[in-house]
Amino acid sequence: MCLTCISAKTDHRPVIVVLLVLYFVEISLSEPTPEDSVSNSFNFNLGSDDSADISAYLNVTYKSDFGWKSDVADVGRYGGGFIGSAHGLLVHVTSKHQPGDHSGCVYPFESSRSDGKLPPPGTPWVALIQRGHCNFDVKVDNAFKSKASAALVYNDRTSGTLEKMKLTYDDKRNITAVFTYKWKGEQLAKLLENDSNVYIQITISERKTSKSGDINRRIRLMEEIRNDTKSAVKVSENKKNCKKLQVFYHWLNRKIKSLNANN
Ligand SMILES: *[C@@H]1O[C@H](CO)[C@@H](O)[C@H](O)[C@H]1NC(C)=O
Ligand SMILES: *[C@@H]1O[C@H](CO)[C@@H](O)[C@H](O)[C@H]1NC(C)=O
Ligand SMILES: *[C@@H]1O[C@H](CO)[C@@H](O)[C@H](O)[C@H]1NC(C)=O
Ligand SMILES: *[C@@H]1O[C@H](CO)[C@@H](O)[C@H](O)[C@H]1NC(C)=O
Repeated sequence: MCLTCISAKTDHRPVIVVLLVLYFVEISLSEPTPEDSVSNSFNFNLGSDDSADISAYLNVTYKSDFGWKSDVADVGRYGGGFIGSAHGLLVHVTSKHQPGDHSGCVYPFESSRSDGKLPPPGTPWVALIQRGHCNFDVKVDNAFKSKASAALVYNDRTSGTLEKMKLTYDDKRNITAVFTYKWKGEQLAKLLENDSNVYIQITISERKTSKSGDINRRIRLMEEIRNDTKSAVKVSENKKNCKKLQVFYHWLNRKIKSLNANN
């Protein structure tokens, strides 16, 4: 594959090969679990610390016996894709043929309201989705296709920690995707009973830099690899064989941009 194209056609920079090999090794070491795996082979998972860990505030507004009430807590965690704030009417999604299924695996979505309808176009809304049955990418893709402003995925098992959802980085899929606890998801689902309106605001709470420390150093390293990849593509005569390398180059480029944007 692309490794041969580099080593055969370039007389210099064995460092590229080494770095690429390091990347591939890292990929195979950080094999995702089946449920969270993605089909895109260029979602090289650079480990859980490939970008800052970012937690999210969920500000939930609902009608209680004492009037409208807001409840703000730092109980969310952004996944590996787009990072941004979002707000809207909360909708517990279901599928047409299985009204009890909130996994968000089947498109199109319906809502758990008695009429099954999603909010009309133009009304911002946030999809509340239960973890399980398909990987996170499918859920987030379906929410994006359904024109939700965010996907809020809640755990289907009790856990004291919040995982960072493994998501393919795609700069066209600019939808906020946040993971929350099982208890929080169930609390929100309960608030939505009887066609009650619940509004939610998702905002960035805290950016913790990666475990490996200096994220800028990581970005610079990736830039270096990107630049080397570019030179390798240029000097290579057989461009066709280097298709993968070019895809890798573009993937790196987008990754660097996203890291820079989130940093
Ligand atoms: C939470 O949302 C409500 C309704 O939009 C807003 O009035 C309130 O200021 C928000 N609270 C915080 C802490 O952002
Ligand atoms: C996502 O991209 C579309 C098209 O470029 C844009 O209209 C929309 O405002 C963006 N949304 C966010 C949350 O950035
Ligand atoms: C929905 O209605 C049931 C039965 O009347 C009631 O027990 C429950 O508390 C209601 N839920 C909400 C969120 O109002
Ligand atoms: C990579 O190339 C860009 C543009 O040519 C340059 O600005 C940048 O400094 C280079 N980065 C490294 C780490 O060599």
